[in-house]
Amino acid sequence: MCGIFGYLGEQDAVSLVLEGLKKLEYRGYDSAGVALIQNGELLSHKEVGKVSVLDAKIAEKGWKSGLAIAHTRWATHGKPTQINAHPQFDTASRCAVVHNGIIENHEAVRRLLQKRGVSFQSDTDTEVISQLIGFLNKGNFLRAVQRALPLLQGAFAIAVIHQDAPEEIICAAKESPLAIGVGEGEMFVASDAQAFLKYTRQAIYLHSSELALITKKGVQAFNARLAPIEKESENLDHDAEEVTKGAYQHYMLKEIYEQPQTLQNALLSRFSEEYGSAILDGLKLSEEELFKIKRIVILACGTSLHAGLTATYLFEEKARIPVEVEISSEFRYKNPIVQENTLAIAISQSGETADTLAAMRELKEKGAKIVGICNVQGSTLAREVDSCLFLRAGPEICVAATKTYTSQLIVLTLLSLRFARMHTMSQQEGKHLIKALQALPSQVKSILSQADKIERIAKKYAHYDNFFFLGRRYMYPTALEGALKLKEIAYINANGYPAGEMKHGPIALIHENCPTVAYCGDSVTYPKILSNLMEIKARSGKVLAIAPEGSKEIQGIADDVIYVPKTLDELSPIPATIVSQLLAYYIAKERGTEIDQPRNLAKSVTVE
Ligand code: AGP
Repeated sequence: MCGIFGYLGEQDAVSLVLEGLKKLEYRGYDSAGVALIQNGELLSHKEVGKVSVLDAKIAEKGWKSGLAIAHTRWATHGKPTQINAHPQFDTASRCAVVHNGIIENHEAVRRLLQKRGVSFQSDTDTEVISQLIGFLNKGNFLRAVQRALPLLQGAFAIAVIHQDAPEEIICAAKESPLAIGVGEGEMFVASDAQAFLKYTRQAIYLHSSELALITKKGVQAFNARLAPIEKESENLDHDAEEVTKGAYQHYMLKEIYEQPQTLQNALLSRFSEEYGSAILDGLKLSEEELFKIKRIVILACGTSLHAGLTATYLFEEKARIPVEVEISSEFRYKNPIVQENTLAIAISQSGETADTLAAMRELKEKGAKIVGICNVQGSTLAREVDSCLFLRAGPEICVAATKTYTSQLIVLTLLSLRFARMHTMSQQEGKHLIKALQALPSQVKSILSQADKIERIAKKYAHYDNFFFLGRRYMYPTALEGALKLKEIAYINANGYPAGEMKHGPIALIHENCPTVAYCGDSVTYPKILSNLMEIKARSGKVLAIAPEGSKEIQGIADDVIYVPKTLDELSPIPATIVSQLLAYYIAKERGTEIDQPRNLAKSVTVE
């Protein structure tokens, strides 16, 4: 993970890289650092904590330079300390490197260099890059970087500067994103083009094993053998919209409240009421190709995985197409079998999740067509898939996914509708589903209007340290997602489980101090979950139920009930999830955790 930002030009490079770094904090925020060249001297400063901590220290220094590189870290190798923060240096402190990714053979390279007298300062894998470049540098900085690259295994994106080349930044990438922004007499480097969009919309992306020499005049890219290659710059058309919290205390709450609008955006112009079907312009597959699909493989991680799990019920039940949902990090090591007419759906809010990208590339290589479901235009996923369906949810700043999850559910519902109408679903049924989809934004509004009640209930449950989240059928992935939200932002052990499995072991954990959040929105399994909850009550477990309006029986069982508007089973994850999000938010607030940037996490998980 980690975020890299670099600048070369006439402006104040130091303040500019710090500003850029703040836009990349979603990639990690446990330490940060900057290196620059001022009057021919390499200077640097690093701090543990967020970019704001670094910013405050740098302000005192009064540094002025037209060239700087900076880094915000999510620790992989070595604790988040000042020494382990980036930049990392060579022994002579003449070369500085910022890095995103993991050097898998760092131990071997470290030993090799140590045998030749190099001594290391940090525990990081990154220091082997800077030390290696320093060791190989015999007066030609570019050549030294090029010679170092084939000795490094793993995935990485780096930006390197050297005291002896005060007008150059060298970058290289291997399976990690790196964008170079081309301005007028000024150049930018960033892990995500969004970070320099305010200054330029022209971006060049480095592909695997390419490197680039950046000067004020322009960019020269090279292949791994240092042969020059031509690279066209792309014109980025997405907005450089500045996102603020507005009147909300946290981005998370703001993003939860945006959902009536984001659901509307996800639906906009994507269905035909008349034909009861979905219109998905982003889907670049012919009618014939779509019709022939015999199997769907969904790849995703975390919250996106929960959206994928929900989609199995949608695709199998509505379109009668067999679906496998695969945890991206496990999938690629299975040596997957790709039969003819397999469609892969890669779901990733950020479009930068390394595991999902790797799994997707594996399937692509084996001949599957890939549809991406993503929120970020210009992301690696969006650029590499055959077709991309965008969520249109706007930037999501809080590390915990909220609005993007419900938009993923909408897009997957529309995609399943598209398939279902080709195979088994009648026009009438299609129209019925569209009507229910259209009703969702106002139903979500009505749940948001119950926020005070949800906050009161959250306060009542906030002191418990262990929870179960239970559901069945459509409510099973919904329960997993509810549990994940509570873990992420409130640091509470929350176990998401299919309710019917409790009696096969986990019920042993139920007692009066381990409450259950029960999702009762699936009509087919409603009577069954009531019985499962009776079993919990019989063992003194407390039950907080989320149930559709009109569910009477639950009142006699649960200790507390939060009612949500009734919808179709296949859409019921959305209202229930809005409640989970508010519940997790208010419990976290009561416990005083850092809601928008929870400990140990990052918004984009760019390492495998
Ligand atoms: C969600 O709240 C989490 N932050 C996390 O599980 C996330 O969903 C996961 O890392 C996948 O991210 P992606 O959707 O950007 O691929």
